[in-house]
Amino acid sequence: MKAVVLSGGSGTRLRPFTFTQAKQLIPVANKPILFYLLEDIKISGIDDVAIIVGETREEVKEKVGDGSKFGLNITYVEQDAPRGIAHAVKLTRDFVKDEPFVVILGDNLLNYSIKELVREFEESNHDAHILLTRVKNPERFGVAELDTDGNVLNLVEKPKKPKSDLALVGIYFFRKMVFEMIDQLKYSWRNELEITDAIDMLLKNKYKVKADIITGWWKDTGKPEDILDANHLVLDLIKTDIQGTVTKDTTVKGRVRIGKNTTISKNSYLIGPLIIGENCTIENAFVGSYCAIGDNCTLKNCELESSIIMQGTKIECRKKLTNCLIGTDCEILDSDHYPKGNKLIIGKQSKLFLE
Ligand code: G1P
Repeated sequence: MKAVVLSGGSGTRLRPFTFTQAKQLIPVANKPILFYLLEDIKISGIDDVAIIVGETREEVKEKVGDGSKFGLNITYVEQDAPRGIAHAVKLTRDFVKDEPFVVILGDNLLNYSIKELVREFEESNHDAHILLTRVKNPERFGVAELDTDGNVLNLVEKPKKPKSDLALVGIYFFRKMVFEMIDQLKYSWRNELEITDAIDMLLKNKYKVKADIITGWWKDTGKPEDILDANHLVLDLIKTDIQGTVTKDTTVKGRVRIGKNTTISKNSYLIGPLIIGENCTIENAFVGSYCAIGDNCTLKNCELESSIIMQGTKIECRKKLTNCLIGTDCEILDSDHYPKGNKLIIGKQSKLFLE
């Protein structure tokens, strides 16, 4: 079995972060979302992976490399523009050959392994296997209608009037006949070849499409608040591991992970679950639950909660920061000099919510 991972797209809803990095590389609990998927593909016994890349190809290739650090053989497949999931899948025809394959959207995160599903699909006679989950806003997703026995009747991409609350999760198992369906697709209203339409066409052609409703959590990390939610969900599972130095005057409560060469001192206060990377300096700071602090950060005289702070950022500011998503190499400092007031030096499409 092979895997196809989509890591193209421009991530417009995640600007300004996506001006400088691919959305699939945004860290959740200090690890790029894409890495969680690649690690799980390896655990599931798959070695050959095609990653579809678009305008952020260089960043993805630099971070993932040839796949050897994950124990995978990675082939990069170029997509000239975001023309849809089915378009991306179509580009992998030579890579997939006659093998069954799993397609995974590189910005989707879920809390369990696909290992069992991989084995089940390999051993089954299903032509496709999809995963569904109940959502509050089905019009944002591909939506399935099921009969009373749980068989899929039809699938519609982003329906105005959804027939159910069952959204398609971004993990799909296919065999080669899906390529025949994709060849017959027409571009949708959003000018994409929709994988949802290809699966619907499998159904109309009487192919066997198995659907499972998943019960664990799943996140499509398309927006900043989704990234913060995913960070909560992953941090809920972390175990304590302190590699750095925590001085005696620091209070530590709950589960915390602290990386190498990080020093936490001067009456700092940590409440887990949280993660702090390597080479950080933390002095007289309150780092509350659900924080993920990247490598090489400096936090002094500040108070943080429920936030992602990416690597190389410096915070020395007495205003409490909550639910923040802060990029790499930023500075947030007290403004102690006249003229008084909030002094902001902000790039394109940043968002600030000031008290
Ligand atoms: C895509 C699919 C949609 C699916 C969703 C899952 O949506 O088209 O069917 O439910 O991923 O994340 P998009 O991210 O393109 O809006």
